[in-house]
Amino acid sequence: MSIRLGDEAPNFTAETTEGTIDFHDWKGDSWAILFSHPKDFTPVCTTELGTVAKLKDEFDRRGVKVVGLSVDPVDSHAEWAADIAETQGQAVNFPLIADPDRKVSDLYDLIHPNANDTLTVRSVFVIGPDNKVKLTLTYPASTGRNFDEILRVVDSLQLTAKHQVATPADWEQGGDVIIVPAVSDEDAAAKYPDGWRADKPYLRWVPQPQG
Ligand code: BEZ
Repeated sequence: MSIRLGDEAPNFTAETTEGTIDFHDWKGDSWAILFSHPKDFTPVCTTELGTVAKLKDEFDRRGVKVVGLSVDPVDSHAEWAADIAETQGQAVNFPLIADPDRKVSDLYDLIHPNANDTLTVRSVFVIGPDNKVKLTLTYPASTGRNFDEILRVVDSLQLTAKHQVATPADWEQGGDVIIVPAVSDEDAAAKYPDGWRADKPYLRWVPQPQG
C-alpha cells in the first residue's frame, strides 16, 4: 500500500545502528524524516548519507529527527559507516534502519519491482509532530537527492502549519508568501493591517509572518 499525504506514518519496531527502536516512541512529538537508500557500499548513497550527516545542525535547529533505511543488515550499515566517514569527511550521526526482511520497506512501499525487485528506492517521508505524512518523494537509484530542498520544504511546512499562508515556487526563508484562498479579504485585513499586494484577487502577497 502506498502512503499518501495526510496518512499516519506506520509504526514499526526495527533494528538500527543505534539499537532497536519503536518508530513512534523514537520520534515522539518531533518532526521526523525517514529516508531510504538502495544499498550500502554504493557510490551515490555514500554521498547522500555524508550530506545528510553534514546537515545535522540544520535538522536539529528545526526540531527534525532523521533516520535512514535500506534492506541491508545492521552489521553492513556499521561497516559502511566507516567508508562514509573516510570519503565524505563526516561520520554518520543518525540511526540507519536495517530492514533485511523488508518489513518496513513493505509498510512504506519502498520496493518498486518495475524499477528493481530487490533494492529500496530513494524515498523521503517528512512526518509531522502529529505523526501524519506531510511530504513524500521518490527518486531513482541513479539520482542523488538535494537535501537543501528537503530543508526548504521543512521550512515551508513549519511556517504553513502556524500561519494561514502558502509558499510560492522557489520560496526560501524570508521571501514573501501567499495568503491562502480560504482566508477572505475581510479576515486578511484583520490579520494583515498593513495590507497586501494582490496580483489577482486569488494571488495575494504578504511578507513572511514571523514567529
Ligand atoms: C548508488 O548509490 O550509487 C546506486 C545504488 C543502486 C543502484 C545504482 C546506484
